Amino acid sequence: MLFGRTTLSKFVIEHTRGQHSDMGALLIDVAAAVKGISALVGKGALSGFSGSAATTNVQGEEQKKIDVLANEAILRHCEWGGQLAGMASEEMDEPCPIPESYPRGRYLLVFDPLDGSSNSDVNVSVGTIFSILQRPQAGDATLADFLRPGAEQVAAGYAIYGPATMLVLSVRTGTHAFTLDRESGNFILTHPDIRVPEATREFAINTSNERFWEPPVQRYVAECKAGKTGVRGADFNMRWIASMVAEVHRILMRGGIFMYPKDSKDPSKPGRLRLLYEANPMAMLIEQAGGAASTGRERILDVAPEALHQRVPVILGSREEVERLERYHQEFDAGTDRPYASPLFAERSLFRD
Ligand code: F6P
Repeated sequence: MLFGRTTLSKFVIEHTRGQHSDMGALLIDVAAAVKGISALVGKGALSGFSGSAATTNVQGEEQKKIDVLANEAILRHCEWGGQLAGMASEEMDEPCPIPESYPRGRYLLVFDPLDGSSNSDVNVSVGTIFSILQRPQAGDATLADFLRPGAEQVAAGYAIYGPATMLVLSVRTGTHAFTLDRESGNFILTHPDIRVPEATREFAINTSNERFWEPPVQRYVAECKAGKTGVRGADFNMRWIASMVAEVHRILMRGGIFMYPKDSKDPSKPGRLRLLYEANPMAMLIEQAGGAASTGRERILDVAPEALHQRVPVILGSREEVERLERYHQEFDAGTDRPYASPLFAERSLFRD
């Protein structure tokens, strides 16, 4: 039955009535940009935009042509409507002002236009992540306006470009997912009020970094891998797609834990993922769905940002597992993480320097 379904427009009008009624139009513009990016990504090699743009972003990462185009798509779709005070993106060193010819609003849009884009050349799901903050009044945003903790986000979401394109959104009234109906061009509410199961037996981490992790994470993963024969007494499954959007989407759909923890690979980077446009929006979506999101030592949404492109350790997903990892960090920091009675690893020295 095609008629009577809840479209994204209907949803945002109903869920932003009152204090944020002016945010609905911005969300519709974000959705329009996402549809354009979805069409481009969906063409794969036929788009003519695969491969490198021969430039690097502020973090020194190679930009793909498709990263640059996705960035443009969001800027051009969202700059004109009068809701925004400024935008910032993974692909731009500094915040992007609203062009002179358009009115200013009070919202700030922060985004990663194409997360996991190294996967786009191999036809694996990639996505767009966004976060909306606000300043007290309409006007031109300053850098300080963007440096607000994630707990102050008024909306957050991502689009996943997979076999189906989906938009997953929170306006602080739960986490809800919409599927793009390619025939009508509408996002249709297909997964209202998503709940992340509290317990899980599935973890996701890039184990090639194992030797660089801190002891609490080494301990946790060793216990998962020990399965039924270890302290957990249960077998765990592992998944790693190297596309955060796909990873978080799986967790929202069926539970699990995703980790990109602190490591010592490059001492100048305390984590891999960016706080403002990766960790914060995903943390809000996960928390609004009943899960938890932590650096291991602090709730992600409470981290006070110091820089636009700041990186942060990320541990998120099913609440029981995130809380277990926080406990392992506390025990390690307090020096009380022993004795540890694993039949495989009985030595304190395994997890302590
Ligand atoms: O930009 C972040 C990202 O692409 C994430 O989507 C993904 O989780 C991560 O990088 C993968 O990085 P690596 O391949 O270095 O583990």
